[in-house]
Amino acid sequence: MNASPAIDPRDFRQALGMFATGVTIVTTCAEDGSPVGVTANSFNSVSLQPPMVLWSLAKTARSLTAFSAATHWNVHVLANGQEALSNRFARPGEDKFAGLPLDQGSTAAPLIPGCAARFECRTAFQYEGGDHIIFVGEVMRYDRSERAPLVYVTGGYAVASKVAADVSTAQTADRASAPYSENLLGYLLGRAHHQFLAGFRPTRDARGLSDPDFFVLSLLAVRAPLSATEIAEHIAYTGIDIGPVALQALVARDLLRATPEGYALSAAGQDAILHVMAAAKGVEADIMARLGELDAAALRNGLKRLIALSDPGLPTLWT
Ligand SMILES: Cc1cc2nc3c(=O)[nH]c(=O)nc-3n(C[C@H](O)[C@H](O)[C@H](O)COP(=O)(O)O)c2cc1C
Repeated sequence: MNASPAIDPRDFRQALGMFATGVTIVTTCAEDGSPVGVTANSFNSVSLQPPMVLWSLAKTARSLTAFSAATHWNVHVLANGQEALSNRFARPGEDKFAGLPLDQGSTAAPLIPGCAARFECRTAFQYEGGDHIIFVGEVMRYDRSERAPLVYVTGGYAVASKVAADVSTAQTADRASAPYSENLLGYLLGRAHHQFLAGFRPTRDARGLSDPDFFVLSLLAVRAPLSATEIAEHIAYTGIDIGPVALQALVARDLLRATPEGYALSAAGQDAILHVMAAAKGVEADIMARLGELDAAALRNGLKRLIALSDPGLPTLWT
């Protein structure tokens, strides 16, 4: 344990960074009527009855004068995906509100839309807090959305995910004789993939689409025309070797058109992939609704990170 005199500020910051928080933007209206806002993760709940919250602002902040004089301020709990907004309000010296659409609040303090939750507050107390001033506010009004909140931990943005209490059991994880446990990533990914696919495979099969057919059609639904080589490059990660013969077979079935610029979907191909994608989106909507916004955001984030760090160098699909 570090005792007070020996505390290294950098190390202390890192220790504090182990405490995961949300991210807020606190706004107010300066005495000259101009909007003021600052990113703050020092926000916390204080009291339920009466409803009170707090946050602290560095004495060096340019917005200190405005907040010290303010009778009201709004706290915006940021949603997953609002990192750019957080960064904008954490940078001094720029017009933080330029081009930002605002909602009408009950006071002159700016009210930013699209957040996970918002609290309109009346200044109740201000306290000295070392190099910060602590603001305590009484909540006059609040609202919230179903958006997953943005998280801040160990100096970076993160997404929150509920702990999967029923997935991991110590017995299977520790049994030395078992070739793998239910925590093996390959097992989790493979099983999740197949269970997800099972939900719309009947629609795919009814259209007579095999795995390779489906990959080619869904690729060309996003980007077309593509040459045979380009199609093969995009699909190589599946381990399926798509050659000109397979593509010609899809042309013969009237699912693709061969143009001088490359292959594209025919009207029938477009219709087939739209139907299969509609079924896939139905499965996704059902699963995401059961997962909830929080875990859905965390799952997408985890999969994107895994895809990025294991990317064998695929050509860009979406621009
Ligand atoms: C995630 C995050 C959380 C922050 N939390 C606080 C905070 O709680 N209090 C604070 O004074 N500054 C905090 N900051 C830094 C301020 O946002 C930053 O210093 C900002 O430039 C202050 O704006 P101003 O100088 O225009 O008042 C945080 C920054 C980030 C990125």
